[in-house]
Amino acid sequence: MVLLWHRPESTIARVDAKGLIAAGGEATRLGELTRVANKHLLPVGRWPMIYYPLQLLQLAGVREVLIVTGQGHAGQLIDLLGDGRMAARGGDEPLFDLDLTYKVQTEPGGIAQVVGMAEAYAGGGKLVVCLGDNLFEFAEVSAIRSWADAGEGAQIFVKEVPDPERFGVVVYGEDGRVTDLVEKAGVVDTRYETPPTADAVVGLYCYDATVYEIIRGLEPSSRGELEITDVNRRYAEEGRLEVARVQGWWHDAGAHEALAELGARVEETGANKLA
Ligand code: G1P
Repeated sequence: MVLLWHRPESTIARVDAKGLIAAGGEATRLGELTRVANKHLLPVGRWPMIYYPLQLLQLAGVREVLIVTGQGHAGQLIDLLGDGRMAARGGDEPLFDLDLTYKVQTEPGGIAQVVGMAEAYAGGGKLVVCLGDNLFEFAEVSAIRSWADAGEGAQIFVKEVPDPERFGVVVYGEDGRVTDLVEKAGVVDTRYETPPTADAVVGLYCYDATVYEIIRGLEPSSRGELEITDVNRRYAEEGRLEVARVQGWWHDAGAHEALAELGARVEETGANKLA
């Protein structure tokens, strides 16, 4: 077993950004598992899934985190996480020293809608967004911290994947800058039949306060959602999008196979490692 926890929280310098975890959705792909349970509370290795994105934000130095969840699932999350200050069960080893706030998304309307819900909370400051079902081998601390300290616009993270049709992907121009982003080619974004690249956009995003104006201008996609990919495309068009590459593995835990594989992987390699 590789230790997931590397250093006491008190030594982590704060960054000037708040966090957002998107933990809504019906999770119908998980069938019987999510009739009652919130997907983000299902076990991955020895932790409930949502501990991983919370730990990632904490390691990056984010302390105030807004959790957005669907109605019917908020109670379970609050029961588990409380105000965000938790010791490991049966001991006094600190697990989280966060300041949590909760909001309920009554109708699923897409990740961009969830980000829009953070406007007042973020209070004009920067926001680091993590999808509640995305897990990372490395916590991406330096990329998040350097963007929070000095970055502008938005920063997204990409990972080359064998199944890019399941994700948003990034298209690059000759100079290496992002020219386009495509959400689930052929399904959500029908400008392309198949994904133009294999560089998937992962569920970790950094935004400045101009994101809310962009979200207000969005139209729902063909799946009836406000797409985070449309937000990122706007930043790219304005030349304000940075792209960082994920180190190590990255997975979303949206389906049974992924959930089982991830549990084994986390036990084998650890998650949210610092380097
Ligand atoms: C969402 C985003 C997609 C991204 C993925 C990462 O997909 O829309 O761009 O690649 O998360 O997990 P969804 O979960 O809505 O299918």
